[in-house]
Order: sequence, then C-alpha cells, then structure tokens
Amino acid sequence: MKIEGKEYRTIWFEKNVVKIIDQTKLPHKFIIKDLKTIKDVINAIKIMEVRGAPLIGATAAYGLVLAIIENNDQSFLKKSADNLISSRPTAINLKWSVDRMMNKLSGVNSDKILEIALSEANKICEEDIKFCENIGINGLKIIEEIYNKKKDTVNILTHCNAGWLATINWGTATSPIYHAHKKGIPVHVWADETRPRNQGANLTSYELNEEGIKNTIIADNTGGILMQRGEVDMCIVGTDRTLANGDVCNKVGTYLKALAANDNNIPFYVALPSSTIDWNIKDHKEIPIEERNPEELSHIEGLDEKGILKKIQIYPQKSKAVNLAFDVTPAKYVTGLITEKGVCEASKEGLEKLFK
Ligand code: MRU
Repeated sequence: MKIEGKEYRTIWFEKNVVKIIDQTKLPHKFIIKDLKTIKDVINAIKIMEVRGAPLIGATAAYGLVLAIIENNDQSFLKKSADNLISSRPTAINLKWSVDRMMNKLSGVNSDKILEIALSEANKICEEDIKFCENIGINGLKIIEEIYNKKKDTVNILTHCNAGWLATINWGTATSPIYHAHKKGIPVHVWADETRPRNQGANLTSYELNEEGIKNTIIADNTGGILMQRGEVDMCIVGTDRTLANGDVCNKVGTYLKALAANDNNIPFYVALPSSTIDWNIKDHKEIPIEERNPEELSHIEGLDEKGILKKIQIYPQKSKAVNLAFDVTPAKYVTGLITEKGVCEASKEGLEKLFK
C-alpha cells in the first residue's frame, strides 16, 4: 500500500539485510530500518518495531535466514528458532512461521540451506499477501451488501491495527475496506485509539489517511455510544490466534467491542489468514496472554510544541498498573470469520468446512 504516494511492503530482504518500517516511530517519522542479525530481529519483535501477527511471523522467518548467514550451524539455528518463538507469546503466526521454516531447514547441512531458507521466507510473505488480498475480496461482499441496503456511507469500526502495517500488504481487517474503497463504495472507519500503544491512532488512522480513506479516531470507550446511536454499521477486527472452536484472541479491548456490538445487533466480523488458526488449543484459558511493561501505560510518547519526539509520564509516580495486551472474544459474539478461503461461521464446523 502507499505512503506519501509510494508503494511499500512492510518487510523485504536486500543484500543480506532485512528491511522493515520501524513502527515505533510512526506516525511522526517514517524510518526504514536494517535488521542485520538474529538478535536485531528478536529485539525488533519484542519492542514492536514490527508487530501484528502475520508480520511478526514473516519477520521471524527472515530472522532464521540471518541466523544462517551469521553462523551456519544446526544448534545455533535451533536456539535461534526457540528464541524467536518466545519473543512474543500470543500471536500463533510466530510459531507457525518458525515451525514451517524449521521443517525445511532442520538437518540440512549443505550450502543450499541459505537458498532454501530465503526462498521459504519469501514464500511466506508472498502467500500472506495473496491471502490478505483474498480476505479483502471475500469481505468486500459483506460491505457491498450493507451499502446496497443503506445506499449511504458504510461506517466500520475497527480495533488496534490489523491493517497492511500488521501484515506484508493489504492487512486483514482493512483489506475489505481497501477493496470497497477501490470499488467506489463510500466507507468511513472509526479507529479505536487502542491504548496503551495507540496502534489504532498511530497506525490504522495513519495508513487509511495515506490511502485517502475517511476515518475518525475515537477513544477506546466511545464505540458503545456510537453503536447505540446507529453510527456503526459493522465491526471488523483482526486476530492473533483463532481457536478451532471460533474463539478469537486479539488486542485487549476487542472483547468489550464485541459485547457492545452484540447488544446493539451490529455484525462483528474477524478477518484472518489461516496462519492465525491454532488447531491445537481447546480452551481459550490456555492461550498465553502477553503481559507487557506497565510503563507503556504510565508513559506516553509524542511530539512536543517544537516537533521533537518526547516521552512523558502521565500516571501518578506511586500508582501500580497492569498491562495485559490481549483478550479473548468468545465465538458466540463473532458474526463470521473472513478468511482467504471464504467467510465462515466462528465454530469448529465453520472452520473445518473451509480448511479440513
Ligand atoms: O500488539 P500488536 O500491535 O502486535 O497487536 C496486533 C493486533 O492485535 C492485531 O489485531 C492482530 O495482530 C491482527 S494483525 C492482522
């Protein structure tokens, strides 16, 4: 998608270096950063220079390419894979991608290992782009249906950033929106600010602005009243891990939006590529929910009056804070899952019809 009119992907490999857009600096600074070692990659995932489930997975895949360049040794590769998987615990795409790479690379001792690794990492990215594009085509039909009935701008609420910045291109939740916009359907997005890291404001609103899509940032608690006032036609969010029974784990706050949508009879869709499905965990209580540094709550970063990026403390010094990064929306609150293979019910039967 575009930034200042120029087409970008979120990640690419060039001359033995992984190139990323540093998302900790957006929207104030657009910086392309070089990741040169596996350590750089693990750090980029941990501090969220790259974030969003599919993008974390793709970055980890390139991390293994860098590990091979650094030290072509199977035990180093295995250790790198383990460290990547534990760098962020909730998004299943990370493990999915590392496992997929290791299936190709484990036990390969020939010089060909680098070529195999790079080709697989590239494939993971190409596949994600295709899947996200298909999510857009499948989700477009839902937006189109609402538009055909309403004959007016379709208002879509989203939480966090499940946009192209969270994937390689297109995004998951935003892909149907981009497709609708390209088709000439008038859309407007309510972008939840998404405290504490403000991915909705800093990333979703930013990327929609760059594509010329109307959007409004709202505080995380505003969705409910907008829904009661009839100002939300549908919700679309992303997911970091979707269980085989249709339960959806996504950025903290998603659950409350789903409850409000349910109470107001507003369709609540979740968009995902199949790499985000966890077929193994049976109970959502087993999902490892990431707990991040409370400093992400107590401090905030932004431009001062001179345009200099500054971090300031906003909480009382003595106060405690807890920073749980994800929550789970039970399948019963999800109207449908928009996947690369079609839209299905958020249930075992629905998912199995499409994927097994
Ligand atoms: O903590 P983040 O910014 O990595 O969380 C991102 C989300 O919660 C997204 O909704 C999810 O990864 C889906 S991305 C297509």
